[in-house]
Amino acid sequence: MSALEKVILADREYIADIRHDLHAHPELGYAERRTNGVVRRELAIVGVEHVDGLAGGTGVLAYLPASTKPDSALTIALRADMDALPITENTGKPYASQSLGVMHACGHDGHTSILIGTARALSKVERPNNILLVFQPAEEGGAGGRKMCEEGVLNGAVLGKPVDRIFGLHGFPLLGVGQIATRKGALLASADGFEITIRGKGGHAAMPHFGIDPIVVASHIVVALQTIASRNVSPLDAIVVTVGRIDAGTAHNIIPDEAHLIGTLRALHKATRELGEKRITQIATDIAHALGAEARIEWLHGYPVTWNDGEATDDFRRAVEPAFGEALVAEEVEPVMGAEDFSFYGERVPACFYWLGLLSKGMDRYPNLHATDFDFNDAALPVGIKAMCSLALADYAHLKTSSGEFAARG
Ligand code: NI
Repeated sequence: MSALEKVILADREYIADIRHDLHAHPELGYAERRTNGVVRRELAIVGVEHVDGLAGGTGVLAYLPASTKPDSALTIALRADMDALPITENTGKPYASQSLGVMHACGHDGHTSILIGTARALSKVERPNNILLVFQPAEEGGAGGRKMCEEGVLNGAVLGKPVDRIFGLHGFPLLGVGQIATRKGALLASADGFEITIRGKGGHAAMPHFGIDPIVVASHIVVALQTIASRNVSPLDAIVVTVGRIDAGTAHNIIPDEAHLIGTLRALHKATRELGEKRITQIATDIAHALGAEARIEWLHGYPVTWNDGEATDDFRRAVEPAFGEALVAEEVEPVMGAEDFSFYGERVPACFYWLGLLSKGMDRYPNLHATDFDFNDAALPVGIKAMCSLALADYAHLKTSSGEFAARG
């Protein structure tokens, strides 16, 4: 067992206690004030320099410089998200949420604890690289990651040096404890919301010829939207167009003036995302026109595709396979049509996001993310810390050219 593994093992209970404490006190996006306090306290205990008050106040950026020559060392960033979800917990655990209606149902308590454990372990060993630890708020829809980027956490403006590589993880119920997995290219989808307002002409349900029925128009649009996946996008690519809500009408004998369609668009490529938006807009507008109505579309642009850079993903494998053994690093996994705001970091620097297995031996299934019975698996904490430390301490010499300059930065 390496010295690092001993340090991680010795911290097992300490980190699990932190996770239980965070789990008992979940906080929604941009309100992670207590969580922020725990992160700062733990960084201070091991003397890790950090800047507080980022991304609306609760974001923290910590820095561990390379042990020798930090000016010429490469800089590796590791990211954790800290927010919880508006769900009422139903785990029955002794450390269950003490805040009614708020719960760590996505395991961000685990992610934050892993990055705290990583800071503790890295503070005790020689480091060939500069390491930035990104504790971000508001992953669940609030785009805290974008704010962290915009405030300069990746370019050395806040603390440390410009980032050469960034890595992040998420607990994954379908993978065994001890395993990690990722893939090159899209790991998670982009996610955009749309709202279509169809303006017709209301009147008596028994005299439809005097009006323009927006419900009939909306129905045609919903059906026609299905052709985007089936006729516009390659069968080998993936897209989701879901209308999740239809609002129209008040009574059986009235044709309303308006109908509303609310939905989501998901894609695994930027070009497919753009095509989806164009086709939804065209189909809604032109079908409404053909039937004598008007359609107005509002877009709520969400997260981009979480895209794993090819070289950063090779670096990931090179770093973790010696520590885990090839058998524990799963083969290329399928992408997931959920979304992640880690994608904003990946738009700026070479990035790799990976799954950390949560399913214990002997379990048939692990509770789903965002479910009321979900709880991060403590057994996965040291595994996540080991993976993050391996990435932080790996040899990235191939990124430097013979002249000592960085071959690729940003
Ligand atoms: Ni999550």
